[in-house]
Amino acid sequence: MYARRLAQIAPFRVVELLERAKALEAAGHEVVHLEVGEPDFPTAPDIVAAGHAALDAGATKYTQALGIPELRSRIARHYREWAGVEVDPARVVVTAGASAGLLLLSALLLDAGDELLLTDPGYPCNEVFARLVNGVPVAVPVVPEEAFRLTPERAAAAWTAATRGMLVASPANPTGTVLSVADLQALAALARDRGGFLLLDEIYQGLTYDGDAPGYRSGLAVAEDIYVLNSFSKYFGMTGWRLGWMVVPDDAVEPVSRLAQNLFISPPSLAQHAALAAFEPRAMAVHEARRQQFARRRDVLCAGLDRLGFEVPLRPAGAFYVYVDIGGTGMDALAFCRRLLEEYRVAVTPGIDFGAHRAERYVRFAFTTSEAHIELGIERIGAALADWGVG
Ligand SMILES: Cc1ncc(COP(=O)(O)O)c(C=O)c1O
Repeated sequence: MYARRLAQIAPFRVVELLERAKALEAAGHEVVHLEVGEPDFPTAPDIVAAGHAALDAGATKYTQALGIPELRSRIARHYREWAGVEVDPARVVVTAGASAGLLLLSALLLDAGDELLLTDPGYPCNEVFARLVNGVPVAVPVVPEEAFRLTPERAAAAWTAATRGMLVASPANPTGTVLSVADLQALAALARDRGGFLLLDEIYQGLTYDGDAPGYRSGLAVAEDIYVLNSFSKYFGMTGWRLGWMVVPDDAVEPVSRLAQNLFISPPSLAQHAALAAFEPRAMAVHEARRQQFARRRDVLCAGLDRLGFEVPLRPAGAFYVYVDIGGTGMDALAFCRRLLEEYRVAVTPGIDFGAHRAERYVRFAFTTSEAHIELGIERIGAALADWGVG
């Protein structure tokens, strides 16, 4: 009765855990949330104020399919100011979150049977977007010994006659890995050589913690002919506003526009007007202060996990996740997550939500909660390990 593709679309295990966490909270328990993939901070006050003003001014209608011109220009300016890259505003496409961008690019670039290389572990929805257009997601394992990077060698080895392109995130979910200039150059060159495309998901752009270690602030500074996805969700703290953007090659603007008109009519008007305030100095100061808080939380979480004796294969350079090998406990990661929540009221996400490669050994810890809560979580996990005799 339903389309066959539904059989291939898995529910998130973390949703089951979240529901259980909510039930525990409703029963009066304090749950430590280390599973949430969004900032705990509210949207910066100036953005909220701009949203109110936009509503009062009647910004309640459809907008241009590719976004309001002021925002496309403002985003282009952001690339100049932040990343030293000149981007023609005409190449900026505003979307309903990076999610809509991922759907648009899948529809633009994949025909039925076309293969898209993805990382395993990686952001789980990517393969669903590919499947929706009858493309074939191909999971390429990435390993801790290589900092979970999609190396050019691995991508080249996975590339077949049916492959059309690859999608990588930097910084990445769930590993926090950040690609180097050399990696990006080599991946872009591979795509070029094979007549394919490189999609670079920069949704965690801005959330990096070790200075400008990779030497770029946007992959566009490294390779011009790639497709870049971005979002107001993470660095700008606007998850619920559902707003993102892409930068696409010149030639792609017109076909993307056709798709965007048909699929979405326009991105949300209110969110677009509010987002104009996101790049202004006062809001940027709020975002920067939050980035620094995330950096401290990362340090607290990594130090705590270390004390507990977990193997933290990669201290994340970006995003807000630590991907941890819990294999040393002898427990299956999903069982570990379920028991930790049930018995010790700490919610974390099992690796199985991000792929298949050694997923049963991994757990994602998100540092989207306060340092005090992270410490409390570490304390509870320590008690759990002692209690279970696996520490
Ligand atoms: C790597 C990655 N890409 C894309 C998204 C989608 O984000 P949004 O649609 O909120 O912009 C997420 C959300 O968690 C993500 O982690």
